[in-house]
Amino acid sequence: MGRSYFIHTFGCQMNESDSQRMGEALSRAGWSAAGAAEAADLVLVNTCSIREKAEDKLFSALGRYRLLKSQRGLKIGVAGCVASSQTERLLARAPFVDFVLGPDHLDKVPELADRGGVETDFLDTEQYLFPQADPETSRGRATAFVTAMKGCDNVCSFCVVPYTRGREVSRPYAEVVREIASLVAVGVREVTLIGQNVNSYAGGCTFAELIRRVASVPGLLRIRFTTSHPMDLSPELVRCFHDVPQLMPHFHLPVQHGADTVLQRMRRKYTIGEYQKRIGALPEHVALTSDIICGFPGETDEEHAENIAFLSRTPYDNLFSFLYSPRPHTGAILKLAEWGEVPRETALRRLDEVQKLQQARTLRRHLDRVGSEVEVLVEGGAGFAGDGRSPKGRSSDAHGFGRSRENWTVHFEGDANVGDLIEVRVQSASLVALRGAQTKVLDRAEATAAPRRRLAVVNAPECCG
Ligand code: 5AD
Ligand code: SF4
Repeated sequence: MGRSYFIHTFGCQMNESDSQRMGEALSRAGWSAAGAAEAADLVLVNTCSIREKAEDKLFSALGRYRLLKSQRGLKIGVAGCVASSQTERLLARAPFVDFVLGPDHLDKVPELADRGGVETDFLDTEQYLFPQADPETSRGRATAFVTAMKGCDNVCSFCVVPYTRGREVSRPYAEVVREIASLVAVGVREVTLIGQNVNSYAGGCTFAELIRRVASVPGLLRIRFTTSHPMDLSPELVRCFHDVPQLMPHFHLPVQHGADTVLQRMRRKYTIGEYQKRIGALPEHVALTSDIICGFPGETDEEHAENIAFLSRTPYDNLFSFLYSPRPHTGAILKLAEWGEVPRETALRRLDEVQKLQQARTLRRHLDRVGSEVEVLVEGGAGFAGDGRSPKGRSSDAHGFGRSRENWTVHFEGDANVGDLIEVRVQSASLVALRGAQTKVLDRAEATAAPRRRLAVVNAPECCG
């Protein structure tokens, strides 16, 4: 029997995609995927450091794996953002970790698993080669993430990402398009182009041009992308929402706060007026979502009221709202004493107000769709291999699930298979999903021959929805 691995993923889509690439590198080196940490010879924890809570979860997971190590002698590796930004602190707190690798060294995981050690430096544009996805990993899936760029050149004062992921590097467009064509060949019908600041893409063409090139891949039905900075929203990209039919009408464009004074302290480089002008150019049918931080240092009652007023007049489809978490190496932590920390109770109260406002609105939007038809790409259904994860809120009687064009989760009764594009008549709705019955198949996916390979990856979403 060969050796087996298990990957525990925290954080965003970028980390999820990195975990897949690491799994593929281990498979190429002869490792196989284990169904659980208890059965593995290697546990790899792919970490997130966006907020302190994510780090706390990492250390509690490491505590559990340490116990397994003492019982079974497995190896423990730590990858991702904590690995790259806080190697020393990590090794001091968890000295039983065998190896540490940063996001630029995914291909080295088999080598490090054998010899141990630390590889966390960033590679610059000339040296960096984006790991190519193995399409077999996505066989049997309707959707896949495709890396378009990595890193971030912005300096938002709350954010640790430029420190954990390094400078921006874009992947050449021909490589991106080739990868997508290979995914479509194994049955994938929707791709999400990912990058920490994906709309500042510069891999030989603009991001809008990249979308148009991707749209020309035959058989690809849907394109999404995440995540974007408002300052990089070009008129060209807005045009894509008007005239690229494959581009789904959903735009995640984090505003972070509704008061100019807070945006200035956050170093976001735009005012609310500029943000509003930009989103005003988007076609009306585009579902807009955003991120909001409550309790940013120095946030006054007046600034919070401005935030609420902005959110009330901006018709967001959904919001991901967070409590500010001071992060090492960031601009805001250096200014914490000067700007003043917001008492936790005040910050929690403000967060609650933001969440209640949005929840009522999201529910209303969902309920408005009851009685109408929505187009759904099926992600789990009758032909479902059974080893995928169903989204939260799925009831046992629901037959399948997928996503609407706006990215809403839809559960349905019907006989559609994974990859089918169907129409669902909505019968009921909740805050998290729509529920209904399949009325027709709009485009049936051809069956993908072989069963999908088991992925020894669990994911604990921390951020970005
Ligand atoms: N505290 C709270 N939220 C944060 N985010 C990023 N850094 C922090 C922080 N220090 C949020 C932002 C970002 C999302 C992915 O996480 O809203 O858009
Ligand atoms: Fe890392 Fe940021 Fe992704 Fe978290 S959201 S895993 S910190 S890149």
